[in-house]
Amino acid sequence: MKMKFLFFAILTLGGVLLFAPSCKKAYPTTDMSINSVIPRPDSVAATSGTFVLDDGTSIYVQSGNERLMKNAIFLAEMLRNATGFEIEINETNRKPREGNIFLTIVEEKENNPSNEFYELSITEKLVTIASSGEEGNFYGIQTLRQLLPSNIETEGIFEEPLLLPTGTIIDSPQYGYRGAMLDVARHFFDVESVKRVVDYLALYKMNVLHLHLTDDQGWRIEIESWPNLTSHGGSTEVGGGEGGYFSKEDYKEIVRYAEEHYIMIVPEVDMPGHTNAALASYPELNCDGKVTELYTGIKVGFSTLCTDKEVVYEFVDDVVREISEITPGRYFHIGGDESHSTKQDDYVYFVNRAREIVKSYGKQMIGWDEVAHADINSEDVVQFWAREKNASMGVKKGASIIMSPSKHAYMDMKYDSTTVLGLTWAGFTEVDDAYIWSPDTLIDDINSKDILGVEAPLWSETVEDLDDVEFLIFPRLPGYAEVAWTDPSKRSWDEYKERLGRHENRFKALGIDFYQSPLVPWQDEHDFFVEKE
Ligand code: ACM
Repeated sequence: MKMKFLFFAILTLGGVLLFAPSCKKAYPTTDMSINSVIPRPDSVAATSGTFVLDDGTSIYVQSGNERLMKNAIFLAEMLRNATGFEIEINETNRKPREGNIFLTIVEEKENNPSNEFYELSITEKLVTIASSGEEGNFYGIQTLRQLLPSNIETEGIFEEPLLLPTGTIIDSPQYGYRGAMLDVARHFFDVESVKRVVDYLALYKMNVLHLHLTDDQGWRIEIESWPNLTSHGGSTEVGGGEGGYFSKEDYKEIVRYAEEHYIMIVPEVDMPGHTNAALASYPELNCDGKVTELYTGIKVGFSTLCTDKEVVYEFVDDVVREISEITPGRYFHIGGDESHSTKQDDYVYFVNRAREIVKSYGKQMIGWDEVAHADINSEDVVQFWAREKNASMGVKKGASIIMSPSKHAYMDMKYDSTTVLGLTWAGFTEVDDAYIWSPDTLIDDINSKDILGVEAPLWSETVEDLDDVEFLIFPRLPGYAEVAWTDPSKRSWDEYKERLGRHENRFKALGIDFYQSPLVPWQDEHDFFVEKE
């Protein structure tokens, strides 16, 4: 166990022991408009009453909807764990009796064609989440979760009724793609660690987890037709550790778990550069027909697939086919960044052919912004990270843009000069730098209509385990969720930092090892709650 983990474990336990007696009496404010919900909802209308959630409360689910039923199980399990209340789940075709929670789908609202709209209405009699789709309903549950004290995240803390402030929250996201990326290539992370990241994304209504599955230092996904990729190419990682890889069953389990949380997995196989792990596994992928040595350093730009060999496209075809077969999401990410050892013409030729292969398996291509140089169009997605000119070129060719500006959205950048983990090449990224930007004003000729959404990548050159992941993503991650979800006219750092500060207890209750930024007014949420006998 790492020292800092031990430290946080003690802190968390201490927090639980300290707060347990008083939290029985501390409840969220009865004014719903003073909430700590992240991302900030579209509209909140408070009515200054309370709903009492107690041992008699059940969840009623609109009949015949399996996914809504799963949402209900998610909510019930959280409430049961924290309270010991029974929280039964029932199906129904009409509004339930007083004292209960009702999950239902409504006809699509005119201005909210997506499945992500929800209305959370809390009266003294009933809690209702009415949504345009099952996703929206799940998001309504996440909002409800954040209106409850953070000890809801911990097992067996409350034995008394929970109080909820009354009012109505009407909400839907600005962008449909709200993601994070985890680099499992530089260091490998097991299935359980990836699931925890999924949990964190779900809490903040994010809906994409991009997995960077291959790089110079490791190949992390089983490909049955090219087994050396994992047996040899997956056998190490940065620093020389033993690496690892996802079997197809592991990957399917990640996809399943993510889907349950309304999160799409976007697989990335980085090509034609960043391919040393493959080049070390199969000699025929190299122009000189010889395998390279495995690589455990962190330099970039030295590797390339041999773009004029037909066997390379057979390889790409097999890899894209096998991964697409177990990926329900619509996208396949081909990487395409930093191919400094590939001649420009060869690069364009390669990306054009890889793109056709991706399309042939029914997927849409995403590539880092360099792929804008290839023959792309409105079917493709360009992920902006470095060059504004590339992103603009992509938009001119009709592609959509994912905004991942390295100066704001790279979660592997150090917070400041004292941060031990992380890199610095894009600059320090304090919590305010991560929050104070808008996708639609970042690049002159790119507007919200061109933008698919926002993604915050975590590259793992310096990141070895889940504790490290947590330290770099928290507390920046909730900010990216809000940048992607909330209309810029409703966002301000000064207001946001107060809400973020009140997530301290929630991070601790979840056992998250977070960076206690001096820019955030960390506040014990109990000081913000009202005391009740
Ligand atoms: C990247 O950071 N090389 C996309």
